[in-house]
Amino acid sequence: MAPLIFALPGNEKLAQSFSEATGAKIGNWNHRRFPDGEFYLRIESPVQGKTIVIVSSLKDPDEKITPLIFLSSTLRDLGAEKIILLAPYLAYLRQDIRFQEGEGITSRYFAKLHSEWFDGIVTVDPHLHRYTSLNEIYSIPTKVVPAAPEISEWIRMNISRPLVIGPDQESGQWVSQVATGTGTPSLILEKTRKGDREVEIHFPKLDSWKGHTPVIVDDIISSAKTMITTVSHLKKLGFPSVVCIGVHPIFAGNSYEELLAAGAEKVVTCNTISHSSNQIDLSRILAAAVKEFLPL
Ligand code: R5P
Repeated sequence: MAPLIFALPGNEKLAQSFSEATGAKIGNWNHRRFPDGEFYLRIESPVQGKTIVIVSSLKDPDEKITPLIFLSSTLRDLGAEKIILLAPYLAYLRQDIRFQEGEGITSRYFAKLHSEWFDGIVTVDPHLHRYTSLNEIYSIPTKVVPAAPEISEWIRMNISRPLVIGPDQESGQWVSQVATGTGTPSLILEKTRKGDREVEIHFPKLDSWKGHTPVIVDDIISSAKTMITTVSHLKKLGFPSVVCIGVHPIFAGNSYEELLAAGAEKVVTCNTISHSSNQIDLSRILAAAVKEFLPL
């Protein structure tokens, strides 16, 4: 039986491209907030015995979790057989250990919740640092889609003489794949985080790279301080044009505008979170991943 797609608000565009790429239909549902803020929903498409794909990127996860739980519970109550969450951006992976006494290891709690409400998760480049795989915390099947091949393709088509730069050790995993895919040189910088919105980045000598276009690649752009600090330094070193590529464009507050103001010539992101900077469309590879996972 063909699966049905349900999209949480803000994910309609990705759900539509996903539907076109797979041929799966989009299910109808009605939802709104009561005046007191509580969530109302009503499923309007038949779901009995069906496989459902819920599309919801998890930026601002706290406001999405109740609608997701209610949607999944209602679909199950109405007889849906299998419910897969397609969350191109998966939140709450940062707190993967107790850094200080008394802290919650929220990545584990979030994963436990999802493992209860869904039968599987498909996501793009989750921010795994101390975990080697999502399976360490999710007890349901998970599938990770790498954005690197599409990013490499974008760089190949748009940038001449790129130098792919990772702003910190953690970005090394993505940067090496992207550089291999583009067949270009890369280097990884050293970052010290001083606070939620303050980072210090240490640069090696870059004189021998003059004539290249620095392309900074990172997984998440949140406060954008990592990108801003790197761009500003590269501009001071005399690189005329600096390009920033992010997999997950969170862009908290005015950080996108601040990054442009810092002198980034181009800011390009993948459509794991809907944003005006989305230029790298992952719907085709996401559709292939979900197909492999189900199969559709
Ligand atoms: C951290 O390790 C991540 O890879 C990103 O570098 C980080 O999340 C970026 O955060 P921000 O945009 O707030 O500097």
